[in-house]
Amino acid sequence: MNTAPLLEATGLSKAYGPTAALSGADFALRAGEVVAVMGPSGSGKSTLLHCLAGIVRPDAGTLAYDGRDITALSDTARSALRRTDFGFVFQFGQLVPELSCVENVALPLRLNGEKRKAAEARALEWLARLEVDDTAAKRPGEISGGQGQRVAVARALVSSPRVIFADEPTGALDSLNGERVMRLLTDASRDTGAAVVLVTHEARVAAWSDREVVVRDGSVRSSEWAA
Ligand SMILES: Nc1ncnc2c1ncn2[C@@H]1O[C@H](COP(=O)(O)OP(=O)(O)O)[C@@H](O)[C@H]1O
Ligand SMILES: [Mg+2]
Repeated sequence: MNTAPLLEATGLSKAYGPTAALSGADFALRAGEVVAVMGPSGSGKSTLLHCLAGIVRPDAGTLAYDGRDITALSDTARSALRRTDFGFVFQFGQLVPELSCVENVALPLRLNGEKRKAAEARALEWLARLEVDDTAAKRPGEISGGQGQRVAVARALVSSPRVIFADEPTGALDSLNGERVMRLLTDASRDTGAAVVLVTHEARVAAWSDREVVVRDGSVRSSEWAA
């Protein structure tokens, strides 16, 4: 078995003015694994996720994806990598309000140059898989929060990414809907082989993740490997 990490960060630091959001965080993600990132509010979880995903450039540290140093890439190359290899789910779905749900899910494929018809057919398959195909023609303003997060999960998975970054994807949902979204997200990523970095407060996180790490004061303090 090849155990070389797909994504590996060492010594990531990031300050916002006087605030050290990250101070020397180390993190490694293997292909296909689901890692839960826990920790108190303000500890640096979102900053870690944004650095890992190449959205925020760290002040210091190294970041390698698939054996390549991605801190050295140009902004254009990093956004291209994000579009082809990464999927994102945020706390509030951040769906485009002017587009229908099927158009929202098809968007990553359209941005990668796929034709509308093929892109929307695949988007519809993902909506069905996430049990929200009835939202296809509706706009995000016309559906519930739980449906919106499932549409967002469909959008994150539609382009067959190798890594999904999810930042408190169920933070705005009640526990029943939160659990459904979490299960659908982790099941779908296991089916497709996508690795997941999942920032979450959910107490039942162990049920969905292979491994948990804890962020405290800007560094990754502990990690446990599940059996
Ligand atoms: N864009 C930003 N501008 C200024 N301070 C920020 C910014 N993003 C995060 N911070 C600060 O960095 C620290 C870590 O924040 P964050 O990574 O969002 O933590 P978490 O996601 O664990 O709640 C906090 O003190 C936060 O206020
Ligand atoms: Mg956060």
